[in-house]
Amino acid sequence: MMELRGCHGNAARSHNDGMAVSLPKILTPIDRTPEWKAIQTHSKAMGQSHLRELFATDPQRGVRYTAQAGDLFVDYSKHRVDDTALHLLVALAQRSGLQERIDAMFAGAPINTTENRSVLHVALRSPGGTRIEVDGRDVVADVHKVLAKMGGFARKVRSGGWTGATGKPIRNIVNIGIGGSDLGPAMAYAALLDDSDRRLHCRFVSNVDGDDIWEATHDLDPEETLVIVCSKTFTTVETITNASSARAWLLRGLPRSVRKTAVAKHFVAVSTNAEKVAEFGIDPTNMFGFWDWVGGRYSVDSAIGLSLMIAIGPTKFGQFLDGFHTIDEHFRTTPFARNVPVLMGLLGVWYGNALGAQTHAVLPYSHELSRFSAYLQQLEMESNGKSVDRWGRRVAYSTGAVVWGTPGTNGQHAYYQLIHQGTQLIPADFIGFVHPRHEVELHHDLLMANFFAQTEALAFGKSPEEVRMEGVPEALVPHKTFVGNHPTTTILAPRLTPSVLGQLIALYEHKVMTQGTIWGINSFDQWGVELGKVLAKRIEPELNPGHSAELAHDSSTNALIARYRSARRR
Ligand code: F6P
Repeated sequence: MMELRGCHGNAARSHNDGMAVSLPKILTPIDRTPEWKAIQTHSKAMGQSHLRELFATDPQRGVRYTAQAGDLFVDYSKHRVDDTALHLLVALAQRSGLQERIDAMFAGAPINTTENRSVLHVALRSPGGTRIEVDGRDVVADVHKVLAKMGGFARKVRSGGWTGATGKPIRNIVNIGIGGSDLGPAMAYAALLDDSDRRLHCRFVSNVDGDDIWEATHDLDPEETLVIVCSKTFTTVETITNASSARAWLLRGLPRSVRKTAVAKHFVAVSTNAEKVAEFGIDPTNMFGFWDWVGGRYSVDSAIGLSLMIAIGPTKFGQFLDGFHTIDEHFRTTPFARNVPVLMGLLGVWYGNALGAQTHAVLPYSHELSRFSAYLQQLEMESNGKSVDRWGRRVAYSTGAVVWGTPGTNGQHAYYQLIHQGTQLIPADFIGFVHPRHEVELHHDLLMANFFAQTEALAFGKSPEEVRMEGVPEALVPHKTFVGNHPTTTILAPRLTPSVLGQLIALYEHKVMTQGTIWGINSFDQWGVELGKVLAKRIEPELNPGHSAELAHDSSTNALIARYRSARRR
C-alpha cells in the first residue's frame, strides 16, 4: 500500500522521543470555569435573537461563517451564534486543553486512561515514512505491513486467483462482525458501491438474530463464498455465534471430499486476538491484524475494512485512507477558529449545554449515505455517552447528544414536520454533493434544490404577515406559520468519492474528540455496554424450558422470562 499513497514526510512523533506531551491536568470541572459561565451568560443575552436578524445585520454572514477542510466546504452561518459566541466557544476549547490532547493523541500517548491505551486511529492513515511510536515501536510501519498483506489478498480475490475449496473463484463476501466491526464496512460499502467490482457481492451480518445470517447465506453458493470474521476481541458472542453458524452452513454445502480444506479456503479473520482466531479454527496466516490502540468504532480504516478493500480495490482504499489523513492534518494544525471538526464540536456544546438541545440530526442528501447516520450513532454515542469525567467525577451537565437521521429527501416526507414546527430544538447537519454518482435526467438538481431549500426554510421560516399576504384565512395563519430559527450546518463536497468519504468520517471522529475533551470525558472506552452482556449470559440458560432453578431477578424480569419459557414449550 505504501506505493499507493506516497510519502508525505518523515515527521517523527512519539511520547518517548523527547517531544513534550503533557496531558492536561484540569481539576476544575468545565462547568465551573469562567469560560463556561461566559457562554451561559452570552447565550442568555443572545436570547431569542433570530437568524433573520443575524443575517439582516451582517450581509456578509453567509460568506464569513464558512470554512474549508480538504474537499469539504462548510457553511455554519445558519447557526444562532455571533462573533462573541464563537470567540467564547474557542476560549472554552482552549481552556479544556484541547490542543494538548490533540498533540498527545497524535504522539501516541495513552490518552484512553481507563484502559491505559494510546488512541491512534490517525496512525492507520498515516502515509508511509511517518513515524508514530508506541512503547518504542513504530506503529505506522506495522500498519503498512498489514495494508500490504490486505492488498495482496484483495487483488487475489478480485482477480479470481484466490479460489474456494472446489476451485471456483470467490463471488460473494460475507462480513461477520458487530458494532465497529460491522457498521463501518457496511456503511462504506453502501456509500462506495459504485466504485466496487460489481461481479463481487458483499453482505454484512451482525445481529445474533438467526434471521440475519440465514438471510445473508440461504441463496449463496458456498463454493463461491468467502467469510470474513471481524472482531477486535474475537470473543463477541454475536460474532462467534454467527461465524459458527456460517461454518456449519458452508460445510453442509460443500462436497465431503473438500471439507478438510474448506475453512482455510473460505474463512479469514480480522482481529487483535490471534489465539482466539486459531481456537476457532482459522489459520493465523489467514488473519489480518490490528491493535488495541484502535477503538472498534474507529476501525473502518484498519483491516476491519478488508471487505471494502476487496470490493473497491486497494488503490481506491488507499484514496479512502488519504481522505482521512487530509482531515487529520487539518484537525492537528488549523487554528480552532477555522478548524472545522473543532467548530462542529463547539456548536454541539453551544446547543447542548447552553440552549438545551438533546438531539442532533445528520441528514445526507445522498442515497449512498443511507447507513451514515447509523454509523455515526455508534461513533458519537458510544464515545460520548458518558456521565463521569476523566477524573471519575459525575458531571453536572449534558454530554453526548442523541444522533439520528436518514437521507433526504425521504425524511422530508416523514419527520421534518417536527423539526420545522415542533417544540424541540434540533440542530442538523445537511450533507450534499455538487455532482451525483450518476446523472439521471434532472434528478440531481431536484435533490439539491430540496437540500438548499430546507436549510433556508428552517432558518428563516415564514412569518404570520407573510402567510396573511398569501390570502390565508386568519384561522389557519398560526398553522401555516414557520417560526424558523432552526440551526443547520451545510457540508458541500464535489462528489462522493472514497477520499471524500474518508474526509467525512474523520471530520466526525475529530468532532467527537473535541466534545469529549470539553466535557472532560474519555471518548475512547465503552464500559456502558458491559452490564447488559453479563446479564444476557446469566439469562440465556434460564430460557431453556427444562430450567428448573428459581428465577432471582426483579418481579418484571422473572415474569417475562417465565412467560417466554412457557410459550416456547407449546
Ligand atoms: O459491545 C460494544 C463493542 O465492544 C463495540 O465497542 C465494538 O465495536 C463491538 O462491541 C464489537 O467488538 P469486537 O470487534 O471485539 O467483536
